[in-house]
Amino acid sequence: MVTQVSHPGALVARRCLAVVLAAGEGTRMRSQRPKVLHEVAGRALLAHVLTTTTEAGAGEIAVVVGPDRDDVGAAARKVAPAAQIYVQRERLGTAHAVLAAREALMRGADDVIVAFGDTPLVRPETFLRLREALAGGAAVVVLGFEARDPKGYGRLVRDGETLVAIREEKDASEVERAITLCNGGVMALAGTTALALLEQVSNANAKGEYYLTDVAEIAHRRGLETAVLTVSEEEIQGVNDRAQLAAAEAVLQRRLRAAVLAAGVTLVAPDTVFLSADTAFGTDVVVEPNVVFGPGVSVGDRAVIHAFSHLEGARVGEGATVGPFARLRPGADLGASARVGNFVEIKAAAIGAGAKINHLTYIGDASVGAGTNIGAGTITCNYDGFRKYRTTIGANAFIGSNSSLVAPVTIADGAYIGSGSVITSDVPADALAIGRGRQVVKEGWAALFREKFGPKKHD
Ligand code: UD1
Ligand code: CA
Repeated sequence: MVTQVSHPGALVARRCLAVVLAAGEGTRMRSQRPKVLHEVAGRALLAHVLTTTTEAGAGEIAVVVGPDRDDVGAAARKVAPAAQIYVQRERLGTAHAVLAAREALMRGADDVIVAFGDTPLVRPETFLRLREALAGGAAVVVLGFEARDPKGYGRLVRDGETLVAIREEKDASEVERAITLCNGGVMALAGTTALALLEQVSNANAKGEYYLTDVAEIAHRRGLETAVLTVSEEEIQGVNDRAQLAAAEAVLQRRLRAAVLAAGVTLVAPDTVFLSADTAFGTDVVVEPNVVFGPGVSVGDRAVIHAFSHLEGARVGEGATVGPFARLRPGADLGASARVGNFVEIKAAAIGAGAKINHLTYIGDASVGAGTNIGAGTITCNYDGFRKYRTTIGANAFIGSNSSLVAPVTIADGAYIGSGSVITSDVPADALAIGRGRQVVKEGWAALFREKFGPKKHD
């Protein structure tokens, strides 16, 4: 679900560049995959940041990746096709990382947002508030939060309400360490002075790094305005390990469920429903307990998703019903009022309006016409071990239970298939096809059999 953010009038005319730092090592993830490509709510961490900064009006996006990280750049481009990818060759600190995108900074945006690719919970509204502070005349605006445990965070050193400096944990004095107002990491810089401030940053500190945070003190010394915006600690939570990944997932799920409820969807047991950031619902949809929505699902008005169903890359038409225990895989497209029942799997198949597929069935690489009834236990045999083939079923057809439809095959409008058939050749409209052994009845056979082999009678 895309959050709707209203762009305050004053910001519309301002050019905004988002510099997204994604050169993290992520060793604590214990993963082959770069940290920023791990997913929450069906979307990579980096993709969340690209989406939210775009929603906050960033017309230009620069993504800073580590060396040999073409995969991260490619993933960024998928979400934000116009994103510029810059490589930070050595990991020399956050200011150094921002300067890897020097070329983008030199193009002269009004607002520069610096966001971290591993910090996916910052809301678009928050980025907009940062930009508003820039529009109000600030040169550096940082996100502050009251930390339960400030250890490891930069401390916001203030004089009254003025931000004087940000002191990293390792460089902080005893007095500074006692400060609980911490730096969320994300910040915004006025485009007119951003480059000049960044170029003044040195690495004369405990870690020998070029700290982005130093721009606050440099700006203050130059008499430029600095500001702090406070947010909840939850919003600036970064992801460094799998436990934090799960924590971020929990926050996003809570937000998505709340948004869906507010938009007029019934979730019978919200805590048991898992959504993706892009799950789209019409009105008066009912979702029963224990349903999982993977990425790319849309559900039309008045549809009902029964318990224990799993949907991914699927469209559910108006008034359709799904489940319980149904699986819709990518390319499943259910027409209005279609019914997909228990233990049914649908993949890459368009199901016509009002069609019924109620029990124990696999429909893959197929199309099913409107009003067709698919009996229990029907299987489209779409795969020969090497290639996939299509099954085409017309409108108002009737497929008898426990039939195997061996693709490629076409069953035209209004045709009937006898139960238990194996259908290997096309069936014309309004015909009956039966493909099974003929039944044989032998009168009296069972009685004779029992006579011969049954238990001996006692007198
Ligand atoms: C940073 C802030 C700290 C703040 C904290 C919030 C600095 C110097 N410190 O500290 O004040 O409280 O975030 O979480 O900014 N990165 C690069 N290239 C680099 C270094 C970092 O791309 O050379 C990226 C990382 O991948 C990460 C982000 O920048 O996404 C932050 O870097 P990290 O080293 O985690 O900074 P912290 O020490 O957590
Ligand atoms: Ca960090």
